Amino acid sequence: MCGIVGYVGGRAALDVVVEGLARLEYRGYDSAGVAVLADGKLATAKRAGKLVNLRGVLEEDPPPAGTLGMGHTRWATHGPPNDRNAHPHVDCTGSVAVIHNGIIENFAELRAELEESGHGLASDTDTEAVAHLLEEELKAGDGLAAAMRRVCGRLDGAFTLVAMHTGDPDLVVGARRNSPLVVGVGEGENFLASDVAAFIAHTRDAIELGQDQIVELRADGVRITDFEGRPAEVKEYHVDWDVSAAEKGGYDYFMLKEIAEQPRAVADTLLGRIGADGRLRLDEMRISDRELREVDKIIIVACGTSYHAGLIAKYAIEHWAGLPCEVELASEFRYRDPILSPTTLVIAISQSGETMDALMAVRHAREQRAKLLGICNVNGSTLPRECDGVLYTHAGPEIAVASTKAFLTQLVAVYLIALYIAQTRGTKWGDEVFAMVQLLERMPEKVEKVLETMEPVRELARSLAGERCVLFLGRHVGFPVALEGALKLKELAYMHAEGFAAGELKHGPIALIEEDLPVVVVVPPRARDVLHDKIVSNIQEIRARGARTIVIAEEGDESVVPYADTLIGVPAVPTLLQPLVTTVPLQVFACELATAKGHDVDQPRNLAKSVTVE
Ligand code: G6P
Repeated sequence: MCGIVGYVGGRAALDVVVEGLARLEYRGYDSAGVAVLADGKLATAKRAGKLVNLRGVLEEDPPPAGTLGMGHTRWATHGPPNDRNAHPHVDCTGSVAVIHNGIIENFAELRAELEESGHGLASDTDTEAVAHLLEEELKAGDGLAAAMRRVCGRLDGAFTLVAMHTGDPDLVVGARRNSPLVVGVGEGENFLASDVAAFIAHTRDAIELGQDQIVELRADGVRITDFEGRPAEVKEYHVDWDVSAAEKGGYDYFMLKEIAEQPRAVADTLLGRIGADGRLRLDEMRISDRELREVDKIIIVACGTSYHAGLIAKYAIEHWAGLPCEVELASEFRYRDPILSPTTLVIAISQSGETMDALMAVRHAREQRAKLLGICNVNGSTLPRECDGVLYTHAGPEIAVASTKAFLTQLVAVYLIALYIAQTRGTKWGDEVFAMVQLLERMPEKVEKVLETMEPVRELARSLAGERCVLFLGRHVGFPVALEGALKLKELAYMHAEGFAAGELKHGPIALIEEDLPVVVVVPPRARDVLHDKIVSNIQEIRARGARTIVIAEEGDESVVPYADTLIGVPAVPTLLQPLVTTVPLQVFACELATAKGHDVDQPRNLAKSVTVE
């Protein structure tokens, strides 16, 4: 949600910044803008819409070359996505420029105060108030960093701010509270960005900024302090992927590449977690075995696709670890009165580690003294810092807005956690855990097999591009898979799509069935005979009412053949692991259908990859 880049060094800042914005565009694409400081003057350019529009402006009217610059790609919160509201925003004198990610909650008050004291505000944004507040604070004459510190002290809400000032021509200042900001450390040049992807082509050495910190970025060094000006403790790290991981690598869309990368991502997430003795080792858990044995309830909080991973986790945790497990949308969690105690384990799942709803849920759980475990894909993000322990998924950078490989790796992570708890608490014998881990290790190969057989799914998707609605049904872990299939279709194809628990069909949704309505049904493995037979009956019920049935079932499952208008076979795997193979055709289906409708699957309308506002 909003991408931010800052640069200072020996190169043409504009090129570095625009290249960085291209890599951050997944964070928001309502508008884009840049500011460059050259010959003691600030030049800005901005344009509503995707980065390509800004590139057009820059080509027509290039700003003067400078070596200090910053850029922004916006996901609109305050004010419509037009040129006027695009960042950067400047003060009355045109000597300070600001970009921002987050929401300044007390902006109306600040705006009124500024207007009263004679400042003319040109946009509807909360951000612009910061430019004018900086203008006021700079009058003290102690420079941009000091002014920024004082301004931050007046702001409520979430913000990453980056600013430049003509009076400090070799300095870019960044501030962080609740929204991501990382520093890229180069030689004779330094970078600031919402995500390392923006500078990964130049350096893999990064510094993670903590809460309420200010960074002063100069070509020859970086100084990080807290909002009071005291030197801050920082965490340096080396990014373990390179620029090729953040590029399309010959695919038309990142999403296609990320779907194809799933076997490797699943394998990488399993790597190093199984000791020579066959026992699971989750070193980053940082929750002791004693504490785990004391846990009497697990609550999972997450949003979007990660929430669906949480729903599947519940089945695995209750089955293997024998612990009651609730799953809750992170945005709802703290608004009820969840019963938490020091023996409750709250697991927050978030690909980005920056989703504000998830972070707020974690903070609420912390206040209630629950144990906190994060499942996260982005090293250096906020979630792992706020949890007692973390299990990183190793999906590599996920750039397409709709999550694919991150979801599969989240599933692997929750299976590992469920088995680890089972191992620690002794609810499963060591050899049972090991046998399941061995099955998990075979999953990359199974996912690969699914990917090899996707042409009929693509053909089917193209043939359904004219439909208005698709329903998805599943039972047990197939239910969250149905929800995920429907979410993918909504996100990418902008179609009405709903996922239902197949057993619930008769209690209402069956009224939706009409002649030729496409209904996708996820069938559990034959080994789960009761579940399996029940869903086969459900397929018959909807087919009898005219639905066009698209059935995802285990290869060789003859029992569904008579009732399937289209049959999609997936390799046989144990029930709990089945989402790893049944989700893939649904991703391919949604991606192809949306592409057939002419949509940009990497950047679906109105969405952003990481939503850093509540
Ligand atoms: C956004 C994205 C979704 C994602 C959700 C949760 O809404 O568009 O694709 O599933 O955030 O993101 P997280 O990073 O917390 O997993």
